[in-house]
Amino acid sequence: MRTSLQAIAAELKRLKASGVKALPVSEASMQRLRKAVQARAGQAQPAPLLSAPARPEKDETSTTYQFKASERVYQAKPVDTGAPPIPEPTTFQVPPGEKSARWNALREIVLNDPVCKAHVRPSKKVVFGVGSVDAKIMFVGEAPGADEEVQGEPFVGPAGQLLTRMIGAMGLKRSDVYIGNIMNWRPEMPVDERGVQYGNRPPTEKEMAYCLPYLKGQIEVVNPDLLVALGSTAAQGLLGFGTFKALGEVRGRWKEFAGKPLMITYHPSYILRNQSNRSKRMIWEDLLQVMERAGLPISEKQRGFFLDRG
Ligand code: URA
Repeated sequence: MRTSLQAIAAELKRLKASGVKALPVSEASMQRLRKAVQARAGQAQPAPLLSAPARPEKDETSTTYQFKASERVYQAKPVDTGAPPIPEPTTFQVPPGEKSARWNALREIVLNDPVCKAHVRPSKKVVFGVGSVDAKIMFVGEAPGADEEVQGEPFVGPAGQLLTRMIGAMGLKRSDVYIGNIMNWRPEMPVDERGVQYGNRPPTEKEMAYCLPYLKGQIEVVNPDLLVALGSTAAQGLLGFGTFKALGEVRGRWKEFAGKPLMITYHPSYILRNQSNRSKRMIWEDLLQVMERAGLPISEKQRGFFLDRG
């Protein structure tokens, strides 16, 4: 129970840090949560993260709870799994040669990296980037999640499926672009008695710093025209921790990383939680900038996506 509560708390912090302002929670779920927290009587109770609205909503089966305002950037707490501490950033040499051969060589280096392997749970996979080695556009996420560590491919879970649809809306296929993460393993959280990890946490600065040279290696080999950072953690990993407090300060703006133009936008999971056309339009405007800069054709229909209010 403690593990589940920790996982829920971590997920709430992560959502809040990624810009989510409110969550609908059914009364039944809220009651189960209250019971679980009460069952921990006698233990120090953490400050609640959610507050109920002042006015009850019409639909009494589900209430939208607001996140309480406090710190905006979520500092992740890694769990001790017995894996060795994270060393200084990795160093390696990609052999010269033809592009695909260099990409394959880099992939082999990453999949066999002893640090990455030591932090991956039994039966799960180290995750390397995927896509066209001739891509003009490279999307960069933070770290693999549950689906990604099973399949060994970035962005294949619900957020990834949305990213694939976003790429489709740009008039491209997933295989036309390149998709990578800063980190190559799923950041560890507590596991239950069956060894199953629930929930994700953002990678720490040290974890990202360790893997970042591998992302730089992929940028060097693929040599895209531009990069798109998905979400505040990826943006912090590329721009440097502490360079901004909230994603709104940098989102929709061109920055630079590894000598490439870098657009910062929301993580697709933000859109999964904020299904309004306003949120979709914000991310879409960032992608329109990306399309313009990459020289992709833009139809009138594409320019008008998500302009309806609601
Ligand atoms: N979120 C990420 O940042 N990367 C993935 O690969 C999946 C979800």
